[in-house]
Amino acid sequence: MCGIVGYIGTKEALPVLIKGLKRLEYRGYDSAGVAVIDQGKIQRRRAVGKIDQLTDRLKTEQWGGAIGIAHTRWATHGGVTEENAHPHTDCSGEIMVAHNGIIENYRELRDKFLGGHTLQSKTDTEILAHLIEVHYQGDLRLAVEQALRHVRGTYGLVILHKKEPRKLIAARLGSPLVVGIGDKEYYIASDTSPMLAYTSQVIFLDDGEIAEVTDHGLQIYDLHDQQITKEAEHIDWSERAAEQGGYQHFMLKEIIDQPVVIKDALRGRLVDSEGTAHLGGLNMTEEQMHSVQRIILIACGTASYAALAGKYAFERLSGIPTEVDMGSEFRYRDPIVDRHTLVFAISQSGETADTLAAAREAKRKGAFVRGIVNVVGSTIARETDGGTYIHAGPELAVASTKAYTNMVAVLLMYALQFGRLKRLTVATGQRLVAALREIPDKMQTALQQGTKARALAEKYRQYKNFFFLGRGINYPVALEGSHKLKEISYIHSEAYAAGEMKHGANALLALDFPVLAMMTKNQLYEKMRSNVEEVRARQSPLILVATEGDTEARELTEDIIYVPATMELLEPLVNTIPLQLFAYHMAVLLGRDVDRPRNLAKSVTVE
Ligand code: AGP
Repeated sequence: MCGIVGYIGTKEALPVLIKGLKRLEYRGYDSAGVAVIDQGKIQRRRAVGKIDQLTDRLKTEQWGGAIGIAHTRWATHGGVTEENAHPHTDCSGEIMVAHNGIIENYRELRDKFLGGHTLQSKTDTEILAHLIEVHYQGDLRLAVEQALRHVRGTYGLVILHKKEPRKLIAARLGSPLVVGIGDKEYYIASDTSPMLAYTSQVIFLDDGEIAEVTDHGLQIYDLHDQQITKEAEHIDWSERAAEQGGYQHFMLKEIIDQPVVIKDALRGRLVDSEGTAHLGGLNMTEEQMHSVQRIILIACGTASYAALAGKYAFERLSGIPTEVDMGSEFRYRDPIVDRHTLVFAISQSGETADTLAAAREAKRKGAFVRGIVNVVGSTIARETDGGTYIHAGPELAVASTKAYTNMVAVLLMYALQFGRLKRLTVATGQRLVAALREIPDKMQTALQQGTKARALAEKYRQYKNFFFLGRGINYPVALEGSHKLKEISYIHSEAYAAGEMKHGANALLALDFPVLAMMTKNQLYEKMRSNVEEVRARQSPLILVATEGDTEARELTEDIIYVPATMELLEPLVNTIPLQLFAYHMAVLLGRDVDRPRNLAKSVTVE
């Protein structure tokens, strides 16, 4: 989704803004723009396409101003054109607005307030610039405040005015904004990544807050002009962690990082002697934990496949009925939750609009609502009454990989914690803890299948359709593998619980429809093997993911990726890795934009 950067300080603003936009590229965008106040004059440039197209336009410019705003746009209202790119301005050209979100009543605002104004774009955002112009009487913050009182919708906003050349205004409702506090300088952005190079002190704005940033400091107000006091927080994500580090793509780096970052998810949370895990952020007494009769895991996309792996673990280890629900469905369904329901909102970004709305709904209905989130200080992390950071570090490729495995790890630990409270013996708990400790090494072994995954991608690159099949704990793995392939390679792919194929999808099996089947040695191995035989009988080309040492698999196909054995519930942590690599190599071979696939955004902050 759109990215916002603002800067006021002593440095030249333009390079800071451009570097900041580059840091936000991972969110997905189709045009970019920047505005700077230089020697009392407002300068603005916008361009369709990548940030490089914008920097090309700026090559000959010598802007020296130390205040500015910038934006990457992901089109919602109005096509992908230079006129529709941000920053937008008013009739005078003195107000500049960069906006993330959607102004739902923009037509109504235009008709009511903007007769006689000349609009240059087809966007909802431009209406805001003019609305601020209507209310401006010498104080930009007050004008923004008054304008926003008329607005329905969502916004993360950063605004400047030529008449107040040392002031930035930021406002938030539903779209994240962070203010970074440096030495005599401030950064404003949609997330912390543009400011990691300069400061680790940040303030996360909450909905309904307006920040006024000048050379004299930062003041935060609500929409009724009341000042709010907020403490700065320290963030420990390093700038280096957000860099590509010599890899061809962020996605590859993030796949390869998994054995390292999973240790960060496990660190300090496993209790060997008691065969359990302790996730302090859960924030529930033992009595409250015992009162839980149902668990709902709310998530979208990849997070929902991590959640499905979590469901299997919760039910098997704790015996508590557990469901997975998509945020987008849960929020409008009048869901049945009560004070015996524990809801986990699972989200890498912590900003996914559907997951957030679903979590709010569950909270309203009296459930315990906890977050399982990667981005520190994100909205879901702050709005839930506890929860756990997955500690995957910055994940910049749109396709989630390391966040997925860390989510699974955290869910497994929660399942273990509840399991030990309910019915698991110490000995079983200890076996699980020991197996979790072995996972980083097993992930490393799985990563060694990279060459094989690439060779298979070479062999299968011409196919237009794929099935991913799995049973039991490998079903969520199949779903995730299929999701990865379609989002970055644009190949049509479907995942099925293998036992379901005979009820319809078998009709598609043919020479031109390859199947990737998860046939690892677990309790459903024999069942899965029969399903694989059914696939072979219909002549679909077959790739198997099998357990190291399973020589019988060779009788079924020559295309096998071997993974190390682990305890069944832990298999997604290992078995997903070759599928990530397969999707990655497929996308590279097909010349796709691996880190920023078309039509997708990293942080989905709109419905
Ligand atoms: C993952 O590869 C996808 N880009 C997408 O499905 C993602 O998992 C989904 O949008 C949820 O995002 P979140 O984890 O930030 O909530």
